[in-house]
Parts: sequence; structure tokens; C-alpha cells
Amino acid sequence: ETTEVGPTKCVGPDYRSESQKPTATVSTPVKYDNVITLPQTPQLIALLTMIRDKNTERADFIFYSNRIIRLLVEEGLNHLPIVEQTVTTPVGRSYAGLQFQGKICGVSIMRAGESMEQGLRDCCRSVRIGKILIQRDEETAKPKLFYDKLPEDIASRWVLLLDPMFATGGSAIMAVDVLKSRGVPEERILFLNLIASPEGIENFATKFPKLRVVTAFVDAGLDEKNYIIPGLGDFGDRYYTM
Ligand code: PRP
Ligand code: URA
Repeated sequence: ETTEVGPTKCVGPDYRSESQKPTATVSTPVKYDNVITLPQTPQLIALLTMIRDKNTERADFIFYSNRIIRLLVEEGLNHLPIVEQTVTTPVGRSYAGLQFQGKICGVSIMRAGESMEQGLRDCCRSVRIGKILIQRDEETAKPKLFYDKLPEDIASRWVLLLDPMFATGGSAIMAVDVLKSRGVPEERILFLNLIASPEGIENFATKFPKLRVVTAFVDAGLDEKNYIIPGLGDFGDRYYTM
């Protein structure tokens, strides 16, 4: 077994000194402003540790993945347009707040992306969800498009594109090409993702500089089969069938 390279950092609450904090591998820094990495908190790192462990069984894999997905959705929603909204509280005072503006929809890249739909629904009750079925060829890692079904008015919506794994970037690029062909402008797409590779980020960010990516973690790289390393293996298999 080899230990993959990746930056390490002391992780823990601010009231602990650096020497009192344990070290952990944290997300690889990214040079693109349109790629947002979740804060590398003790909680996130512990959740990721659970799902990366090959001995974690399916029920736990689902449970801990869902918790990270919720964090991604909550952060993704921060990138939608908002307007001022003042309300009156039960004690007769006003509160100057905000409200979301703009229509949204989710689009999942099947199969693994479907695991992120419930997390989106938990935050946006009746959200419309489109589907794009793209599968990577197991030998070549090249993506193939089989099917899509999207809301008719998708061109007027903000799109939260869902796929937990972002390896070569081929599948996500293909999905964005489909969305763009239906009239969705790049700047209205947010790609929510659990684990990315630096290669995928590079491919994507140079091709779609205005599209925003929200990811929990950028890993060290890809192996010879284009699996993310250290990664977590095949997400779809671990979530649905293993
Ligand atoms: C996985 C994953 C992504 C893709 C990432 O799906 O969910 O869609 O591979 O790889 P890429 O960035 O190199 O394209 P896969 O095709 O294995 O299908 P699955 O969702 O059914 O597991
Ligand atoms: N798809 C996965 O599920 N995992 C990888 O590491 C790469 C593609």
C-alpha cells in the first residue's frame, strides 16, 4: 500500500494550539477563482475519512456521503442570486434580511449523480430534476451519452449539476455541453461534486471559465485506470450495489 501525496495540515478548533491538533491530508489548492472548495473542517475531513475507507460498509457509506452532499448543497445555494427582504418579527420589529431570487433546477449525471438528488430536495422542496445518463467506458474511461430528459424551460433556470466524482472531467464536460446546447448559459451552472482530481479541474476550468464548481475535496491525481487517488473507488457501486 502506498500513501498518496497531498498537502497535510493541522486540523482542529482555533482554541487548540497547532501542536495540539492532529494532522490530516487536506484538499489540493486550486488556482481558479471559479472552483470553490468546502472549508477543510474537522467534520468534513472525518466524514471523508469514513467514505474513503474500503472497509466502510454500504449503509455507512450512504449515511456519511449524504452528510457531505448536504454540505455541498448548502454551499452551492450560497452562489445563487439574492435580493433584500425585510420582515416584521412577532415583537413588532423589522429585520433587514435576504431572500433567494431566480428559478433553479437540479440535473443529475446518472447513475452516481442521482445520489445527490435527495440532498437537493431536502433544501429545495419541490425542485425540478433533470437527468443525463452518461457512462464512462471501463476500458478507455471515455464518456458516452445515452439519454437526457431536462425541464423544458431549463434555459431560464439556474442549474445545479450533480455528480460526486470528477475524474478526467470527461463526463461533466459532456453534460455541460448538453446543457449549453439547450440554451443554459455557462455562468448559470453550478457543478456540485464530492471529490475532484486536479486534472479534471484543469480540463473543466479552461474549457468553462465562467461555470462554478463547488467541491468537497481536490485529490492528488488519477491512477493508470483514471480512477481518482487516493479517492474512494467506484462511488456508484459503493452507494448502490456493493
Ligand atoms: C463515474 C462518476 C462520473 C464519472 C467521472 O461514473 O460518477 O460520472 O465516472 O469520471 P470522468 O470525470 O473521468 O468522466 P460512471 O461512468 O462510472 O457511472 P456510474 O455513475 O454508473 O457509476
Ligand atoms: N468514477 C468513480 O466512481 N470513481 C473514480 O475514481 C473515477 C470515476
